[in-house]
Order: sequence, then C-alpha cells, then structure tokens
Amino acid sequence: MTGTLVSPHGGTLVNRMVDADSLESLRIEAASLPRIDMSAKQACDLEMIAMGAFSPLTGFVKEADFRSICSDMRLADGTVWPIPATLAVDDDVKSTLEVGSRAALYHSDGTLMAVIDVEEVYAHDREIELSGVFRTTDQAHPGVAQVLAEGDWLVGGVVHVLTVLPEHEPGEQFTEHRLTPEQTRAAFTERGWSTVAGFQTRNPIHRAHEYLCKCATEICDGLLIHPLVGETKEGDIPADVRMKCYETIIEHYFVEDCTCLSVMPAAMRYAGPREAVLHAVVRQNYGVSHFIVGRDHAGVGDYYGTYDAQEIFDTMNPGDLEVTPLKFEHAAWSHKAQGMVSAKTFPKIKGDQVFLSGTKVRELLAEGQRPPAEFSRPEVADVLIEWATSMATA
Ligand code: ADX
Repeated sequence: MTGTLVSPHGGTLVNRMVDADSLESLRIEAASLPRIDMSAKQACDLEMIAMGAFSPLTGFVKEADFRSICSDMRLADGTVWPIPATLAVDDDVKSTLEVGSRAALYHSDGTLMAVIDVEEVYAHDREIELSGVFRTTDQAHPGVAQVLAEGDWLVGGVVHVLTVLPEHEPGEQFTEHRLTPEQTRAAFTERGWSTVAGFQTRNPIHRAHEYLCKCATEICDGLLIHPLVGETKEGDIPADVRMKCYETIIEHYFVEDCTCLSVMPAAMRYAGPREAVLHAVVRQNYGVSHFIVGRDHAGVGDYYGTYDAQEIFDTMNPGDLEVTPLKFEHAAWSHKAQGMVSAKTFPKIKGDQVFLSGTKVRELLAEGQRPPAEFSRPEVADVLIEWATSMATA
C-alpha cells in the first residue's frame, strides 16, 4: 500500500492555465488591451504561478502581500511566503493601465503569454524588498541589481495564462523534463513513492551534490533531482550543459528506479536564506517531502553565512511548512576516510580533504583536463570539458 504525498503549500494546487475553449476569445480580447513586455524573471514567475508551483499565489502580488512578504516572510493572511513575485513596470507602461481593467503580458520574443486583471498598481518599495529579501542593498549582488533595474511600479492581480512556452525563443526548453507539479505528483504516485527527497541545483553535479542526494534517498522512497533552468546570472553554466551532466551521472551512478529528473523553470534570485525557503515551498508543491539544504544554499559571494539558509527554517512555527528541510554540513572527499565526509562525520585533518574553487575547476576544464575524480565523476567532467573547450574555440 502506498501513502499520500505532502499537501500543496496552502492546501490547493493552483492552476492558472485557461481552458482550451477560452483561448481564442482571450486572444481576441488581449489584442485590444494595454501591453506589458515581461522581463525574463517575470516570464519565469508567470510560468511558476500558471502551473501551481507558486501555490497558493494566483497572480503577481498585491501591495498588502508584497509588504508582508518583505517584512515578515508571510502573505498578508499569515501563510509563509519568502520572496514576492512582482510585475514591475515603468512610468510609460503604468500610464496605459487602468485599475479594474486588464492588460496583456508578452514574452520578450513577442509571444502573447497571459492576461492579468489589473487589481492594483502601487509604488515599488525597493528598500523594503532589498532589506527584507536580500538583507543587502549592494548593487554588486545580482538579485539586488535586478530589482534596482526594475520599474518604479508594481502591478498586482490574478493571471489567466494562455501558454508558458514562448513560440519563437531559440534554445532548449527541456519539454521532456518540464513536468508541472501535477505531473511530478502523478509520477511519484505511479512509482509508489510517498516520501520524496528534493534536490535544487544551479550548477553541474559534483561529488558533494551526489553525496547529499544519496544520503537523502536513503531515508525517502525516491529522489527528485530538480535543477533550476530559468534565468541565472552571467557566469553560471548554461542549463543545457548542466542537464547533460545530470543525465550522464544518473546513467552511470544512480538507480533509475529511485531517481526522477525534472526541471524547475524558476529564475534565480541568489537571495540565500529567503530563497532556500522559496525553493523548499515550491518543491512541496511538486510533491517533495524532504528538501536538501546544504552549505550556502542559493548564496552568492559572501553575502550570507554558510548555514544561514538552514537556520532560517528554525525561525518558523510548526505547521508553517509540510516539507522537512534536510540540512547538510559542508561535504568533501577525505583521502584518509576514502569517502565523502563532513565535519559531523569525520575528524578534520589538515590537507586531507579535496576542495577546489570554481575558478580552479574552470581553468582545468578549459585546458581539457578533468578535475580530480574525488571532486567530479569523470563522465561528468568529460561533458564539461566538451562544453568548455567549445567555448574556448568559439
Ligand atoms: S544553489 O544555488 O542551487 O544552492 P548549488 O547548485 O551549488 O547552488 O547547490 C545545490 C545544493 O547543494 C544546495 O543545497 C547547496 O547548499 C548544496 N551544496 C553544494 N555544495 C555543497 C557542499 N560541498 N557541501 C554541502 N552542500 C553543498
């Protein structure tokens, strides 16, 4: 007999995709509505809302929720929500909008994606967003820079989504792996899983990632490897290359019956602790019961402490989240132990553990050299070398 999966956050899985019957009439209506051209981040958020990954959100946030999220990490009704999904617009667009009416949302490639009920237009209080969500106002922080570059006004309201995949955008859409929360839940149930470990990542998979995934799989029925493939900052490795790494490592080093690979089309904010909570809540919507939070989760530079993204879960009340965070210490290969260890499982011996900086790894790859097998599986290293050398000769 199989048990049941965790409930969606807030109780119900949202679906903001319009019925096939209403598509044509909405398209016709949209043609005469004011136009909002979305940023990449906004388009990612729209998709997350549309398919219920951001449940219980049904649209871009209104002011009471925006303020409450930024200051208290909760929606105005008290439900935990760590990062606002905002639709920022500039003065020119604002002047075309009418509260109580609707607007059409377009992807940057020109595809009509959705219609929004313009319920509110309010001033974009960046100060409260930056201090609450990012804990910094430093423009060098990529998430902060993004907020600072956004418009001065926020549009709040429910969305009616026609499509989540733009028509003309070149590049990989990972359609085979782009499962909605409803689809991952169905896949888990079909496999007889009720407890599922979720792994977020925006990097190619290395030995520490693999170690975390496998420890978590030991205590759950199955594992969801769930790389983020929405907008990332310059310098991060492209999602299609990362996907090849995950497929390769699963083929060689994971048990397929216990492993599910799917993508999450969200944008990265690099908001450390607040983003760890978002990642956990969203994975709960996908049916994940146990969510991996390792060292400096969703961090960038040295804006957050190594374990801030774990400690933030301790500030919540019982019942706030159904998903359980699985907290992992910094893990690395130990020569003496001949395996992956952390400060909790093996005594520290000077020079014993294999640590490589991102810069060092990139240097090796660009020279066509594999990083040590203690750091990266050779099959994964080869995928990265192929990409790095093609970049060097491009
Ligand atoms: S993140 O932005 O998605 O957090 P990354 O893909 O590097 O970045 O990390 C994925 C997950 O693995 C995160 O939970 C992160 O904390 C964890 N992690 C990465 N490297 C290590 C490590 N060496 N030890 C422990 N946890 C790690």
